[in-house]
Amino acid sequence: MTGNNAFLHIEGCDTDRLFSDVKTPCYVIDEKALITNGEILKSVCDDTGCRILLAQKAFSNFTLYPLLSQYINGTEASGLFEARLGYEEMQGKEVHVFCAGYRSDEFEELLKYADHIVFNTPTQLRLFGKRAKASGKSIGLRINPECSTQEGHEIYDPCAPKSRLGTTRALWDELMTDELVSMLDGLHFHTLCEQDADDLQKTLTAVEEKFSDVLPKMKWLNMGGGHHITREGYNIGLLKKLITYAQEKWGVTVYLEPGEAHALNAGYLVTRVLDLIRNGDTDIAILDMSAACHTPDVIEMPYTPPLYNSGKEGELMYNYRLGCPTCLSGDIVGDYSFDKPLQMGDMLIFGDMAIYSTCKSNTFNGMALPDILLLKCDRSIEVIKSFDYRDFKNRLG
Ligand SMILES: Cc1ncc(COP(=O)(O)O)c(C=O)c1O
Repeated sequence: MTGNNAFLHIEGCDTDRLFSDVKTPCYVIDEKALITNGEILKSVCDDTGCRILLAQKAFSNFTLYPLLSQYINGTEASGLFEARLGYEEMQGKEVHVFCAGYRSDEFEELLKYADHIVFNTPTQLRLFGKRAKASGKSIGLRINPECSTQEGHEIYDPCAPKSRLGTTRALWDELMTDELVSMLDGLHFHTLCEQDADDLQKTLTAVEEKFSDVLPKMKWLNMGGGHHITREGYNIGLLKKLITYAQEKWGVTVYLEPGEAHALNAGYLVTRVLDLIRNGDTDIAILDMSAACHTPDVIEMPYTPPLYNSGKEGELMYNYRLGCPTCLSGDIVGDYSFDKPLQMGDMLIFGDMAIYSTCKSNTFNGMALPDILLLKCDRSIEVIKSFDYRDFKNRLG
């Protein structure tokens, strides 16, 4: 499965040679693809005057922050550690933080790193807002426009029924006082996941319907992440129109904080076949990687990642289920087909592996963490980080 431009930058390369010296499994981040994505994001900022942040939950390989920072305005964090990482590693740029519940024992330190602090509820704003304001921070409240634009992915839908993420208009009406409103510099919403600008348009209409009295009082509007801006075919024209509309109508600066869009299709997971077995009619290859440990979204989401030089099940002559060495029966990457039989030791290259991968990997079953490599623009390879037994052991005792 080679769709989605996941292999655009290695298409036609002799990948056996390119990756001949790497120890598998390993993540390989593609510098060229990061630059292509960065240029697209920067053009949105240049054409509209909006500001774009990197949501570090998706991609936090900070070695690349100096490169990314050439195109964007700063980082977005989910709490203290990411805020500190953004502050330390993308120096001189903005640090924004949203957390559904701040801890009082961490808040003082957070004030050292963050420029914008977004609260989830009026109660959190009441608890921490004055301290943040006194430290000169820009303060926001996350709203829930109660406008679901996703289907079948409830765990990724902050507007799903009973969501804890964001303040609904009803909660606003119940708890917001004039004093609390006057503390706010901005509103924040995050409702999308891998979506196009038409869904942003629906969401923005809902935001306007519910909060039109509040928006003109704000200095900024943060439209969250989930914008698949760097995906082929994404409607950038509509995105720019929506940003300009908001900025002109309410006099706000628009922020976007995508994660995926920065590193979309900008990484590979290189693995090798350890064994080949058969169960009934099914040919199975055991790889040296684990979906559960190294690409947890494959199981959580779930999805079948693109694989270089392969087809969907049944598309090409030789079909295989690609499984992993752990004890978890469901530790399976997916069903694929190939134009020739797989051999022990064959190298397989999964695509779009820079996002929600290195930052979510784990050592379940004592699986080693894959090394993280950089495929540079001149196609040379540099090791960013290698791991060994100590990284497994040190977390456990
Ligand atoms: C508040 C917030 N901002 C930004 C993002 C980044 O989203 P994505 O990586 O889908 O662009 C997320 C993802 O969950 C989020 O929760």
